[in-house]
This record gives sequence, structure tokens and C-alpha cells, in this order.
Amino acid sequence: MFVLGGTTARTIAEDISKTLHQPLIEATYKRFPDDEFYVRILEDIKDEDVIVVQTTYPDTKIIELLLIQDALVESGAKKIIVVIPYFGYSRQDKKFENGEPISARAIAQHISLKSDYVITVDPHKEHLLDFFEVRAYSCSAVDEIAKYLKEIDIDFVLAPDKGAKKRAEFAANIIGCEYDYMEKTRINGTTIKIKPKNLEAKNRNVAIIDDIISTGGTMAKSIKELKKQGAKQVSVACTHGLFISGAKEKLLTAGCDNIISTDTIDDEFSKVKTAPCITNTIKKILK
Ligand code: R5P
Repeated sequence: MFVLGGTTARTIAEDISKTLHQPLIEATYKRFPDDEFYVRILEDIKDEDVIVVQTTYPDTKIIELLLIQDALVESGAKKIIVVIPYFGYSRQDKKFENGEPISARAIAQHISLKSDYVITVDPHKEHLLDFFEVRAYSCSAVDEIAKYLKEIDIDFVLAPDKGAKKRAEFAANIIGCEYDYMEKTRINGTTIKIKPKNLEAKNRNVAIIDDIISTGGTMAKSIKELKKQGAKQVSVACTHGLFISGAKEKLLTAGCDNIISTDTIDDEFSKVKTAPCITNTIKKILK
């Protein structure tokens, strides 16, 4: 078996290779002058199973993955396990208005064409796995995030909305502290409303935990509310840190003390590794 890192989430590919003691293979990745993507697998993988790791964000990374998968098939790979640390487009998982696509399903169907198994980390909703037409698995980075939060003495965990409550509860159980959730209403893609509620946050080191931090709007509003209620320190933690549209500044201006994300999208806040949960899932598949 071989491991191939795409052009994203390369540390995850290296970690998987080390943990499973399977070699990383080389490929050439480049762009033509018109920016079209080029890939060439540089090793003999005929009749070998290959684990390929690629986050499908931003859009260009989806095309890259599809071409990498095709190159693997053309090179004679036996089974292809596609690891998608962050599955982009997962928030358009249904038609919210008539005339819209189910984007997550459209992309999942294309990835399924040349793969045998798919693994993704903390998908926005679990039903996304059903969009793949091959066996698809999810794993969660929340226990690794919780271990990190425990080390920095977090003593209260908060979910920014009811949908994230289970995640907060799970993390709080590992840390051994209390948890709660906020009442969030999304007005549109960039505007949300947080309903104030009494949170027992006074003098506590609070961590707000979510699956995605995108523009940082959800977290910034929650941080302000917690600080208003007397929280000593507020950390934000997520699995997938997109940090777009000035999110970092927004969080810091709101009074954030610590920003934590995993390595599904590599950035300065990638403090938690996801390879442990991914390799456990690969081991289960291969059993
Ligand atoms: C939404 O359902 C997600 O779980 C996140 O709460 C959301 O994507 C965060 O977006 P933003 O950082 O732009 O507020």
C-alpha cells in the first residue's frame, strides 16, 4: 500500500504514512500557463492500494483530486482510498431554495467515480456520507481537540448553536467540565444573530467549539457575549479553519484569547492533528 499527498493537507499524508508504515509516493504537480492542472504519478503503483489525501477546498482542489484519481486509475492502482480531511461544499447539503443544486452531492458523486472508499473528518452533517456512491466513513477530531483544550485548562465548553451541542457535550466529557449552547439564527451567508442567555461563564476559561470557522462571524458574536457575561478567557476551536474575510482580525477584536483548529486546512492555527482519527478509520476498513 502507498500513500499519496495531494497539494493540500500534506502533513496529514506524511502522518498517515508514518503511522501505517506505508511509503509516501511522489508525484509531479504543476500548472500549465493557462492555469490548468497537471499531475504525473512518478512511481510504479500497478496492482497496489493507494491512499490519496486531498482537502476539497477551495474549488481548484476538487479538479486536482479528480485528476489525481484518474492518474491513479491509469497507473493501475488496485484500490483507491480517498481521504478528504475537509469536504468543501458540505454546507450546501440540501436545496434551501428552489432552483439550487445539492452541491455536496454533486461533488461526492464525481469523487465516487474513481474511488473505492472515502474518509472525511467531522463532516458538517453525517448524512453527507450517503451522497458518495462508494463506502464512505467519517471520523472525528473532537477528542483530539478536547485533549488540547484540557491542556490549556479550559473549564467550560460552549456550542455556538444547538446543532453543535453534541460536539460540545462530547468535548466537555473528555475535559471533565460543564457545557452549554447558544441560540443562533442565521440571517444569510454572512449575518447571524445570537440570542443572549445566561451561560454560567463568569470567571471561567471558556472554549467555544464548532465544526467550521469561516468568516468568524459566529464565533465573534459568541465571544462578545461571553466577555459581557464575565468570562475570564475565551478560546475558539474548530475542526476546519477556513478563516476567510478577515476572520482572524474579527476574532481578536472581539476579545478572543486563543484560536485553535486542526490540520484539515493548514494554517497558523493548525494545532491539532487529524491523522490519529483518519488512520484508525483506515485500519478498520482494511481489517
Ligand atoms: C454552520 O452551520 C457551521 O457549523 C459554522 O457555524 C459556520 O460555518 C461558521 O461560519 P462563520 O465563521 O462564517 O460564522
